[in-house]
Amino acid sequence: MGLHKIIVITIIISFLSNTESTCLPFSCDASNPDTIKLQFCNSSLPVDQRVDDLILRLNLDEKISQLGNTAPAIPRLNIPAYEWWSEALHGLSMEGLGVKFNGSIKAATQFPQIILTASTFDEHLWYRIAQAISREARAVYNAGELKGMTFWAPNVNILRDPRWGRAQETAGEDPMMVGKYAVAYVRGLQGDSFEGGKLKDGHLQASACCKHFAAQDLDYWNGHHRFTFDAQVTPQDMADSFQPPFKTCVEEGKATSLMCAYSRLNGVSNCANYDLLTTTARRQWGFNGNLKTNYCLLLKSYIVSDCDAIRVMRDSHGYTAEDAVATSLKAGK
Ligand SMILES: *[C@@H]1O[C@H](CO)[C@@H](O)[C@H](O)[C@H]1NC(C)=O
Ligand SMILES: *[C@@H]1O[C@H](CO)[C@@H](O)[C@H](O)[C@H]1NC(C)=O
Repeated sequence: MGLHKIIVITIIISFLSNTESTCLPFSCDASNPDTIKLQFCNSSLPVDQRVDDLILRLNLDEKISQLGNTAPAIPRLNIPAYEWWSEALHGLSMEGLGVKFNGSIKAATQFPQIILTASTFDEHLWYRIAQAISREARAVYNAGELKGMTFWAPNVNILRDPRWGRAQETAGEDPMMVGKYAVAYVRGLQGDSFEGGKLKDGHLQASACCKHFAAQDLDYWNGHHRFTFDAQVTPQDMADSFQPPFKTCVEEGKATSLMCAYSRLNGVSNCANYDLLTTTARRQWGFNGNLKTNYCLLLKSYIVSDCDAIRVMRDSHGYTAEDAVATSLKAGK
């Protein structure tokens, strides 16, 4: 197994279309006699049943193939390829692999950096910006020039120290303020109302991701690197400062994804931290895998590692390759 490709650590996913929809790419073709009878293609069945049916049909190699961010197609089941990695902090971005702007669509609207937008203290504005990003993304996707609708934004780490170097992509230093930004952004991006209600039949317009969980606010400084940094944080500081934006992002924003950080927290790799991912996020905050659906997407709340974080655990955190993968999968299930 190519370890560098192990990026998505806890997912149950499929992109499916139903017969009424016009979404691209198609996975269940009503005119295809081989797949029309498959239960997971049948949009009149409950979503859980469709997901169970799909998972049961995948063999081990196919399941493993779907754990990286670039998930290949499974032609025998008519399942298309999917790219998990797209970025949209302040506008649809070329930084991820999902969009390249090299087709007929050459650009998308770029809004100001988050630190500036946040300084308006205008939650409606934050919401409307995310809503506009999401609608553009959906349009580009429907035009067939975006390979996925999962966006690894917003960044909800609080900014403790300007030497981090990523001040501009955060909503600043205040945990409550960052939490409010998170909620407005996630609701706008995911297609909910400003108050959090569903706008359209419970459908998900796009998937948002609260990153980087948790206590990451350093890239490289004075010999310390984000890959290996071991943040020493007291339980009180976790509860008061570092966790609240994530808690709010999940509980109030209903974000469909969390990203675990490269770094370590009190000696434990974030992506291998069962207490953080399972006990805190999944159990206490209810990030429990409720299914979200739209015409094209069945999505279970998923935890993704930062790019190559599992390889980093092998290379720099003292794990064997097998333990890095197994521990991460078990920590966030
Ligand atoms: C889809 O499921 C419904 C409900 O069980 C069933 O009536 C229908 O025949 C199914 N459609 C196909 C194409 O299998
Ligand atoms: C755009 O770039 C991607 C990735 O490099 C490539 O797969 C795709 O074919 C390109 N599309 C066009 C229209 O050139």
